[in-house]
Amino acid sequence: MYIDASRAQAAALRKLGRAVILAIESSCDETAAAVIRDGREILSNVVSTQIPLHARYGGVVPEIASRAHVEAVNAVVDVALEGAGMTFGDIDAIAVTHGPGLVGALLVGVSTAKALAFALDKPLIPTHHIDAHISANYLAHAQLEPPFVCLVVSGGHTHIVQTAEYGVYRLLGQTLDDAAGEAFDKAARVLGLPYPGGPALDELAELGDPTALRLPRPKTENPYDFSFSGLKTAFIQLMRGSAPPPRTKRDEVPHPVMRGSAPPPRTKRDEVPHTVMRDSAPPPRTKRDEVPHTVKRKGLLDGIRPEDAAASFREAVCETLVDKLIRAAHFVRASNGGMAVPIALAGGVAANRRLRALLAREASREGMTIYMPPLSLCTDNAAMVGAAAFYRMMRGDIADMSLNAEPTLPLPIG
Ligand code: KG4
Ligand code: ZN
Repeated sequence: MYIDASRAQAAALRKLGRAVILAIESSCDETAAAVIRDGREILSNVVSTQIPLHARYGGVVPEIASRAHVEAVNAVVDVALEGAGMTFGDIDAIAVTHGPGLVGALLVGVSTAKALAFALDKPLIPTHHIDAHISANYLAHAQLEPPFVCLVVSGGHTHIVQTAEYGVYRLLGQTLDDAAGEAFDKAARVLGLPYPGGPALDELAELGDPTALRLPRPKTENPYDFSFSGLKTAFIQLMRGSAPPPRTKRDEVPHPVMRGSAPPPRTKRDEVPHTVMRDSAPPPRTKRDEVPHTVKRKGLLDGIRPEDAAASFREAVCETLVDKLIRAAHFVRASNGGMAVPIALAGGVAANRRLRALLAREASREGMTIYMPPLSLCTDNAAMVGAAAFYRMMRGDIADMSLNAEPTLPLPIG
């Protein structure tokens, strides 16, 4: 029986405390595979991005994502094995993200992982996408171990969790409406920026004045929860001119000095150090490219520079994130008998320049230790899945062939 053999193998690997894991990630718009040793060492890390396929629609189209995953997944797995200098025979276990995410997209990774695990007679390790994002930190920081407090900020999630032990979390706060990445993406659309909006807004914001617009700092009943919809609406109304024009810096300094001569900032995509596969040709230009699903720039309120708007919005989001994370870390310290725990950052929005800088500044001011993944491990990848899966298997958590995609899989709370 497959499951008996796989349980026996997983038990043997637990005893050794070692495993080479082939991990697969396909929860959204990146098809990824990686080979990870002992949860900490990246032997290969391959990401095939679908961004060019979705860009013309201004967001991820689930059917297109599923089909692109099907087309890419086998090649991505092959390249990951090749990059690690391995064959299937060298792999101890197969890991896969089975939720949360787009059901059709998840299914591609889950089916592939099940087929591989069954054919190779190896343990199958189900992995939670957010657990994986948090575990990206283990790959970059050998000394990091639970307990620590982590802010997870991605396109679909904004959580502050206390990592009690590997893969077991206590929820301290979460967004009540939009996720931070979602808020960035929506604000970027209003500014007419291309998908994915978060990195584009981040880049534009580098040239702007963060004090130009007065935007609200969201308040919530639980001090560690978030709410970005009010801020987003205020921003959209302001930009469309349906709110009274705010006092801006421009009122005081009519000709702001532009810092536009600086070279364009590097993006997370430039920094992926491992093999990056990209879907070859960009999609053919169509009429749709000229009329993207965004509010046209000319609809923006006159007199507000887009870079100032971007910088002001980014500042409001990042200040809120950092403020709540630092408060949560204080709370955990107090409930820990005064013992400080480190802070970590995870998820796609963790690539945001201002968020990283602000957190570094505030943490050093508070004497707190912080860990952030390198930019290449912030957005979706399979290396993080291999890291989370290692600790999951060490806890004896493996799946059988009934494993399914779980689009709304809740975070493992302990
Ligand atoms: O973790 P991720 O790759 O996918 C999800 O699990 O959702 O996160 C993607 C999100 C998108 O909303 C994207 O716009 C945002 O992360 N993002 C950024 C930056 N890089 C990616 N947001 C702000 N600044 C960035 N530099
Ligand atoms: Zn993600």
